[in-house]
Amino acid sequence: MLRSTAEAIVAEERAQNHHIVADRLERALSSVPVTPSPLTTAATLAGAGKDAILELEPRTQMSQLLLPLPVQEGGRQLIEEHVRADVLRAHGYEPRHRVLLSGPPGNGKTSFAEAVAEALGLPFFMVRYDALIGSYLGETNARLRKLFDYVRSRPSVLFFDEFDAIGKERGDTHETGEIKRVVSFLLMQLDQLPSYVIVIAATNHAELLDRAVWRRFQLRLGFPAPDKKQIEIFLDRVMSQWPDQPRLPVRSVGSKLGLVSYAEAIDFCQNVRRRQILGLGELSINDALRAEIDLWASRVRPEVPNAERSDQTPSQAKYRSTPAKAAGKTRGHSAA
Ligand SMILES: Nc1ncnc2c1ncn2[C@@H]1O[C@H](COP(=O)(O)OP(=O)(O)O)[C@@H](O)[C@H]1O
Ligand SMILES: [Mg+2]
Repeated sequence: MLRSTAEAIVAEERAQNHHIVADRLERALSSVPVTPSPLTTAATLAGAGKDAILELEPRTQMSQLLLPLPVQEGGRQLIEEHVRADVLRAHGYEPRHRVLLSGPPGNGKTSFAEAVAEALGLPFFMVRYDALIGSYLGETNARLRKLFDYVRSRPSVLFFDEFDAIGKERGDTHETGEIKRVVSFLLMQLDQLPSYVIVIAATNHAELLDRAVWRRFQLRLGFPAPDKKQIEIFLDRVMSQWPDQPRLPVRSVGSKLGLVSYAEAIDFCQNVRRRQILGLGELSINDALRAEIDLWASRVRPEVPNAERSDQTPSQAKYRSTPAKAAGKTRGHSAA
């Protein structure tokens, strides 16, 4: 533990161009014998830390996203603070590096995190809960420790999706002592992270987060669902890239879709194009669009609360009561 802390300090000093301090620390470190057996040293530790992380190539660019003004501004500041961290540090300030994104699914939280990594040219690490959450006492904390040890070795963007899965309100009556320990440990780790590791946590349920967790984040950005006008702008952007322009005006397409997330709107557009492409020239963009609009009305929407659906059959009721969150967890990266 002491060693990893010292190594983190070395990395931080290097990041700040304090090479003399870093060299001196490193020399001091190398004179201290490594106590754990060779099997548990750096390489295997790093390997274990990597288990609970998915490294993704960030492709999304900020300019591809339609974002509310405060989010645009927050993103711009965050990126600038990291690009010009040396200027801040010369004045005794650190760039902000703990960011919380909240809002309903499909409106750009994951994409935003990815775009931050893309803008800064940093690796994008996505935390894998399936590999993180253990069933034995203390297992999750041990894995979290390894994860953070691995991550703090260099600048990166560390993304916790569905953060409420671990950052839940500690006052929850169903929780166990183990969850409490995991949350406290996580908070401690977040506090100790060097500022060159940008932690971005996303949640669909900000209200479920523990207040102490909430406070940790220096930048909190809301990703509300788009309104009618924003959907139109988005559809226009996407459809103007198509080889043929449909006759139906964007406004009418928008009103057929109703209030949807950006993710749903992009899915719809892609389905229209797929249909047209597979039509091999037999199907015009107008036909493809009309057919998808007809299908749209009959699609299944898992989020619709049961109360609004008193007409459903028992089997539908069973389907809809499946928590949307559990389904979300198995979702692949930005494939949503
Ligand atoms: N604000 C946005 N602007 C443009 N496209 C978006 C936006 N939000 C979502 N999308 C589209 O929907 C897909 C899924 O969005 P995602 O970032 O995974 O949402 P979230 O993480 O909030 O659930 C993205 O890959 C992108 O194609
Ligand atoms: Mg997401």
